[in-house]
Amino acid sequence: MKGVILAGGLATRLRPLTAVTNKHLLPVYNKPMIYYPLEAMERAGIKEVLLTSSPDHAGHFANLLKDGEEFGLKLYYAVQKNPKGGISDAIALAEEFAKNEKILVLLGDNIFGYNLKDAVEKFEKKDKGAMVFGVKMPTESKQYGVIEVDSEGKVISIEEKPEHPKSNIAQTGIYMYDHKVFEFIKNLTPSAREELEVTDLNNIYVKDGSLQCKIIDWWIDAGTSHDELLRANNLVAEKVKLGELT
Ligand code: DAU
Repeated sequence: MKGVILAGGLATRLRPLTAVTNKHLLPVYNKPMIYYPLEAMERAGIKEVLLTSSPDHAGHFANLLKDGEEFGLKLYYAVQKNPKGGISDAIALAEEFAKNEKILVLLGDNIFGYNLKDAVEKFEKKDKGAMVFGVKMPTESKQYGVIEVDSEGKVISIEEKPEHPKSNIAQTGIYMYDHKVFEFIKNLTPSAREELEVTDLNNIYVKDGSLQCKIIDWWIDAGTSHDELLRANNLVAEKVKLGELT
């Protein structure tokens, strides 16, 4: 299984912090944000990772991360021509890199402690399908994808930033796909915000009856707002001091 980390987008919600840099290079406690998904890949047992980013910032990632050796990974880079083409547009860049292997996709602004190793090993053995990872939020949240799951963990629906959420399970930025993902992306059309949405992609697997959801404990999307970025800094500092995170 190969890894894909997305570090594109325009991060307008974090301006002016992101006026001249990429949000994934901003600090979260003692490291740049992008270190967290890279370390999660290594913990998951992934060896080769493709990092996608925007034309203006691809060189900055290469300067910082080089060939990935520091993280125990072999790192490759791809440029997303339209930096706001959407998450599925960025995933499409991994088609040749994946070479028919399954992929683990992590959004570059997501931070979590859950070790994906077992989930990766189980998913490797599956014939087909995809997997999303959800978090139970204290209240219904309208700023994420919202997942409705049955008692077996099979996904019934996912809605992107719904007005009336059907559950309190937020869709994190952790996804696993079989090789069909690239064919499915070719059938997507841009959403109202003119992006190829990950939720539309995941709903193709829902229709196929082959999307599973695993609930994980803590997770934070550090890139949604200044407040969430501050919360990520504080939460990570606390977890590092407690020895729950390195
Ligand atoms: O973080 C979880 C949420 O991420 C999910 O709950 C939503 O279902 C999913 O759509 C996504 O929502 P966001 O609105 O938070 O996505 P955002 O635009 O912040 O982009 C998420 C990551 O993907 C971020 O690290 C930047 C990267 N990205 C984004 C876009 C639009 C790219 O690499 N290329 C892109 O074109």
